Amino acid sequence: MLAQSEKIAGWLTRAQAASLFAEARRLPAGSRIVEIGSHQGRSTVVLALAARSCHLVAIDPFVEGALFGGLATKQAFLANLAAANVADRVVLREAKSTVLRPGWRDRIDLLYIDGKHDYWTLSDDLKWSEHVPEGGIVLIHDAFSSIGVTLGLLRHVLFSRRLRYLDRTTSLARCQLGCPSSRDRLRLLAQLPWWLRNIAIKLLLRVARLFGNSTPDPY
Ligand SMILES: C[S@@+](CC[C@H](N)C(=O)[O-])C[C@H]1O[C@@H](n2cnc3c(N)ncnc32)[C@H](O)[C@@H]1O
Repeated sequence: MLAQSEKIAGWLTRAQAASLFAEARRLPAGSRIVEIGSHQGRSTVVLALAARSCHLVAIDPFVEGALFGGLATKQAFLANLAAANVADRVVLREAKSTVLRPGWRDRIDLLYIDGKHDYWTLSDDLKWSEHVPEGGIVLIHDAFSSIGVTLGLLRHVLFSRRLRYLDRTTSLARCQLGCPSSRDRLRLLAQLPWWLRNIAIKLLLRVARLFGNSTPDPY
């Protein structure tokens, strides 16, 4: 089933897709999944195929620009969902997550965060977890390959009293609603050397690009 999503351009790796799929698969019928940052629908299709009897809300303003592609990305998103036969199970909210959040009232059974990767937006996106019940899962992409996302996690998960870090699939972090233990906090801190390594690789690749090297960013 993951083969369907692998035809879609995006950053989600196969292992991360399997992790998303597993979390969505265990939700009971009628659950609600919220995805922040859908791009061309690579992760949206994984979630929709895994949770066939759930409601999936995809949030993306389809920002213009070279990185995310604006209107062309939205059109690709719609076409990719139609090709995967999941268009009728996904409600698209074309807006910034930070704009929608204050008015949101519904319960969220699974939250996937992969929107704007700066510290402030990630900090706001983590507030969507206020709608996730105790024991519910929050997945965060690029948790240890982006400065803004990792700093947001350190500020809002490391010191949280209601969100605990569980584990990661490469840079996809899995958190759970519940009071963290000291071991949960230490487990999050233990990922920092790996994060620093990833940031160093990214910086080296940027420098190498100035000299004509075109190795793609691994994250
Ligand atoms: C890394 S991509 C998402 C990739 C997608 N999850 C996938 O699997 O291919 C980030 C997306 O976040 C969107 N985005 C940027 N700012 C946003 C915001 N404030 N709220 C929600 N989405 C945002 C961008 O338009 C872009 O499509």
